[in-house]
Amino acid sequence: QDHLVTSKQLSRADVEAVLDRAAEIDADPGAVADRHAGSLLGLLFFEPSTRTKMSFEAAIKRLGGDTVDMGAVDASSVTKGESLADTVRVAAGYADALVLRHPRQGAATMAGEFVNVPLINAGDGAGHHPSQTLLDLYTIQENAGLDDLTIGIMGDLKYGRTVHSLSYALTNFEADQHFISPESLQLPREVVYDLHLEGATVREHEGYEAILPSLDVLYVTRIQRERFPDENEYQQVAGEYRIDADALEAAEDDLTVMHPLPRVDEIAPDVDDTDHAAYFEQAHNGVPVRMALLDMLLGDGDE
Ligand code: CP
Repeated sequence: QDHLVTSKQLSRADVEAVLDRAAEIDADPGAVADRHAGSLLGLLFFEPSTRTKMSFEAAIKRLGGDTVDMGAVDASSVTKGESLADTVRVAAGYADALVLRHPRQGAATMAGEFVNVPLINAGDGAGHHPSQTLLDLYTIQENAGLDDLTIGIMGDLKYGRTVHSLSYALTNFEADQHFISPESLQLPREVVYDLHLEGATVREHEGYEAILPSLDVLYVTRIQRERFPDENEYQQVAGEYRIDADALEAAEDDLTVMHPLPRVDEIAPDVDDTDHAAYFEQAHNGVPVRMALLDMLLGDGDE
């Protein structure tokens, strides 16, 4: 069974196939309006979500299908002690594909062993978020191109699952990646090790000022307060990096600023009205990209 649990699974050809299909759908969404009529997408969100959940829901509905939603964890039988394995096994009998978000790293990999329908990891703790990566790559392709890319990835690189997934996927495109964070929030060493194995050069910085003028894309992330074992540790780094329109004066005019959202205070509202801001476009790209992904995973019987 095809599951999408990490961006490590994705070859350059896989990524390009999804992005090409997303572009086709973006250009003519009406052409696929009934393509998956009758298909049901199971939504299993054990953590909060706005974008991922709503855009998967929009995607399956725009393909003619519908959702079955476990709803809030505290209104489900999880509160009675049901295991994740049992929950996904049951949900797989109600749906043609599943989307799972869970606070435990590795949860999607484990869950995938119990289901016979495609399962998409919509975030497993500080692990991965591969469908976010696909829409990030789509947005980069539209704004800066994926060839000869110089990207700065800034913020919480330790707990940021969107960063982990994106950095692996970018090795397919030989992007020049710069990682900007306080020392305590650097990329996990196992991620650095894996990036080296893929041939990437990992450049780590504590400040963005020196590297900003050479970037094509600045990808900013929220500090993941909910993942810190100790609130004091969070308070030591909270608000450490904040980009505003003044700071971006030092950047190239065509710098693209991205953020997976939600933001707290990492990007000042005065950036929203600049030509740099691509984060709302990025969020909207979740629909065509997830339509493409679902279309490919659901197939039509012979794909
Ligand atoms: N980018 C992202 O995963 O947002 P949500 O947490 O709102 O789904």
